[in-house]
Amino acid sequence: MDFRAAREVSCGQPANNKEGLMYRTEQEQFWSGEFGDAYISRNCSVEQQAAATGRMAHILARTADIRSVLELGANIGMNLVALRTLLPRARLEAVEINENAYRHLASIPGVTAHHGSILDYRQETPVDLAFTAGVLIHINPDELSRVYATLYEASARYVALCEYYSPVPVEVLYRGHTARLFKRDFAGELMTRYPDLRLVDYGFVYHRDPVFPGDDFTWFVMEKTRRHIDVPT
Ligand SMILES: C[S@@+](CC[C@H](N)C(=O)[O-])C[C@H]1O[C@@H](n2cnc3c(N)ncnc32)[C@H](O)[C@@H]1O
Repeated sequence: MDFRAAREVSCGQPANNKEGLMYRTEQEQFWSGEFGDAYISRNCSVEQQAAATGRMAHILARTADIRSVLELGANIGMNLVALRTLLPRARLEAVEINENAYRHLASIPGVTAHHGSILDYRQETPVDLAFTAGVLIHINPDELSRVYATLYEASARYVALCEYYSPVPVEVLYRGHTARLFKRDFAGELMTRYPDLRLVDYGFVYHRDPVFPGDDFTWFVMEKTRRHIDVPT
C-alpha cells in the first residue's frame, strides 16, 4: 500500500460491524463500535503516514536485527506500512479490535492481521519487536497487567511503547468521553514487573516538531536481557 492508496483506502466509508461482537470492558466496546469507525476517517492522511514512518525509523534505529514485529492495536496499519518500507523482509503481525480497521490491516501486503481484543490475544511465535502506539492509554486500567504480560511474552527481544506519559496514573477527558483515556508511566511499570527489561532509549515527540510532528507522546525502547537464543545444532 503506498501513501496515496493509504489515503484512499483508509478514508472510505466504514462497513457495518456485522459480527456484533461483545467485549467485556466498556473501552473495548467503544473502540470496536462507531467511535472506532470515526477514528479511522480522522486518522488517514498522507502527513500522518509520513510522521508514522519517521517515528518508526527513529525507534528502529535503537534496535538491531529485527526480523519480526507485532503491533497490538494497529488501527489501519500506518505503523505497519512504515515498517513494510523500513524492514522489507520482516514478518509483520498485528491485532485490532475494530472490524473496519482490521479489514484495512488485512489488506496490507505482507501483514498478518488478527481481529479481536488484545485482552484475549496470545502470540504463538515470539517476535523480535512487540509494540503499542496510543493503545495502552485506552485499555481499562484493571486489565493492564494482562496486556503487559501479552506484550512481554510476545517479544523475543525488544518491547517498544509510544504512549502518553504521566508520573502518576491520571484519567483525561477524551473527545468528551470519560473513562476512555488514561496516562501513566507504562514503561516504568513494565520494567518493574519484568526486571530483565533494560531501557535502551526513550524520547518525546512534540506537536510542533517541524519535520515529524506528533501528539506530545513519549516513546520507550526496552530489551530483554534474559533472552532465549536458538543455537543451530
Ligand atoms: C489511538 S489508535 C492507535 C492506532 C495505531 N497504533 C497507530 O499508532 O496509528 C488505538 C487503536 O487501538 C485499538 N484498540 C483499542 N483497544 C483495543 C483492544 N482491547 N484490542 C485490540 N485493539 C484495540 C483501537 O481500535 C485503535 O485502532
